[in-house]
Amino acid sequence: MKTLIFLAILPLMSVLLLSSTCHKSESIKAPLEHKNDICKILHYASLAGSSHNSQPWKVEVFPNDSIVVFADASRLLKVVDPKGIELFISVGAFTENLDIAANSLGYKTEITLHDTGINSAGSVASVKLVKTSLPQKPENLKELELRTTLRIPFDTMEIKNIDRGKLVSIAPENIILVPSNSPEGRFIAKKELEAYTIQAWQKDAQDELASWMRFSNKDVNSKRDGLTPAGIGIKGIGGFVVRNFMKPEDSKKESFVKSGVEKTQKQVENCGGWIIISTEKEDASEWINVGRIYERINIQCRSLNLGFHPMNQIIEVQPIYQEVNDKMVSGRKIRFVARIGYVNEYPAPVSKRRPVESFTIFR
Ligand SMILES: Cc1cc2nc3c(=O)[nH]c(=O)nc-3n(C[C@H](O)[C@H](O)[C@H](O)COP(=O)(O)O)c2cc1C
Repeated sequence: MKTLIFLAILPLMSVLLLSSTCHKSESIKAPLEHKNDICKILHYASLAGSSHNSQPWKVEVFPNDSIVVFADASRLLKVVDPKGIELFISVGAFTENLDIAANSLGYKTEITLHDTGINSAGSVASVKLVKTSLPQKPENLKELELRTTLRIPFDTMEIKNIDRGKLVSIAPENIILVPSNSPEGRFIAKKELEAYTIQAWQKDAQDELASWMRFSNKDVNSKRDGLTPAGIGIKGIGGFVVRNFMKPEDSKKESFVKSGVEKTQKQVENCGGWIIISTEKEDASEWINVGRIYERINIQCRSLNLGFHPMNQIIEVQPIYQEVNDKMVSGRKIRFVARIGYVNEYPAPVSKRRPVESFTIFR
């Protein structure tokens, strides 16, 4: 019932959100013919997932309907992602949503990826929009609204062949789907838990995570990024206590860390498969591409009723990463790992996004 009510009011919420994000911006000055469409496209782009919900993107929009996408290095997770690989993956997910949203509104897109480094002020991608008379596809926008990370336990049933085919065909060279009940699946589950546990007790990673925790309603609604109690699945009385009586610093306390490890054990034991995305080459445009693939898989999983949960600690904790990489892929680099599995009910997305004007400059 709750889901039905949510689905019924979702279009209204989007309209309200868009009208409040796009029109009050001081930075939107250029006399763009398609300004409203571009605001809408950028809002949908920002619904992409990102590591710690850091939303590390910036864009510049030019009067010829060109959008230049940048990585926002000030949002880099220096401890767990020192090379900015996950930052570029997040910007890639944003670029994928941008592409889907533009196509849904009848624009053809030409996307050029630039091989830029994390410390360069250079752009990551340029997107040229060309308005066409192609029919609009609002159902694709709806898919972007419904995509979410799910951290609940999933069914352990094996992923059906037909669904496996749909997921792997997104990028057959980059994607491996490992059944959770196979020896490799059990190996990944074990290593995920080990990696999570190591990182959960690591002081500098704890500090970094705490800096992205948004516990109070005030913080959640003013910052509109980071990890919220609802986002990390702390609901009911627990959610009430965290929202009202805890500070982000409390996430470093032993009891909080231990409950995270217990939760992770349940998560790794309750899934139907593991998605691994790997690349052959190592540069920013490859990582952007991984982000585009990740976003498409997450969207596809939502429509197949498959929960999708990125678990990238396995690639952030170096000794574990080496071991897993050597065993699972040869001559390639694993860049993204997620557990997937069927769910009975798909909860609505809860994580916040910053308004379009906070990351956009209209030239
Ligand atoms: C590169 C990348 C790495 C991520 N790693 C993790 C992770 O290790 N654990 C986790 O629970 N979520 C992870 N996430 C999911 C993000 O936390 C999530 O996308 C963000 O909080 C926004 O929530 P949403 O996906 O529901 O919109 C990752 C996402 C990305 C793009």
